[in-house]
Amino acid sequence: MIKGFIFDLDGVITDTAELHYEAWKKLAEEMDWTFDRELNEKLRGISRMDSIKVIMDHNNATLEEEKILELATNKNNIYVDSLDSMTQEDYLPGVKELLTHLRTEGFNVALGSASKNAIKVLEQLNANMYFDVIGDGNSVAKSKPAPDIFIYGAEKMGLQPDECIVFEDAEKGIDAAKAGGFHSIGIGPEERVGHADLRFDSMADATLFEVKAHFKELFS
Ligand code: G6P
Ligand code: MG
Repeated sequence: MIKGFIFDLDGVITDTAELHYEAWKKLAEEMDWTFDRELNEKLRGISRMDSIKVIMDHNNATLEEEKILELATNKNNIYVDSLDSMTQEDYLPGVKELLTHLRTEGFNVALGSASKNAIKVLEQLNANMYFDVIGDGNSVAKSKPAPDIFIYGAEKMGLQPDECIVFEDAEKGIDAAKAGGFHSIGIGPEERVGHADLRFDSMADATLFEVKAHFKELFS
């Protein structure tokens, strides 16, 4: 029986990929590294430190751990500044309706994000009231594709993984949900999230009606 939902943040609730892209791009330019939108796609769902390592590998760059941390911090400062321009208008289409619907029907709802800036993003969107539990990049040590952040959310809601549905836009996020024994809904193209139990092109298609229709036996 489904009793709770766990939402990824970036790419599910709001689209921060472009802001992350701009911030990494700026850092890459300073370092004389190549960085483009294709590489940015590979950073979807993975932690900041994993992200900078992907960019460095792509550029065959090696640096001391301390320097890597400093550069990741610089990128984060650029990203955090850019969040100031985010407003309550920046929910992805359909998200507010879905979150409201889940509240009305009394489901438990958790956030399960890899971002250490999740609180700030939720504040900018004024989205705190939709969540019973906030799991972010500070909540667990092992990031996606490890299932830890979703397990954290489920435990805090007092639920078992198979009582929860995870919404994710990242390949590694769906990997994490599956590894933890959660039901999963992928948001985005088949090539990225085709391994989810159910997939929608966008959150606008992901209504509670459609979700219930697909997971019928789990809602009765
Ligand atoms: C999300 C994004 C990733 C980002 C990660 C860490 O999962 O999809 O692109 O790297 O969060 O975000 P942070 O805000 O902590 O740098
Ligand atoms: Mg995401």
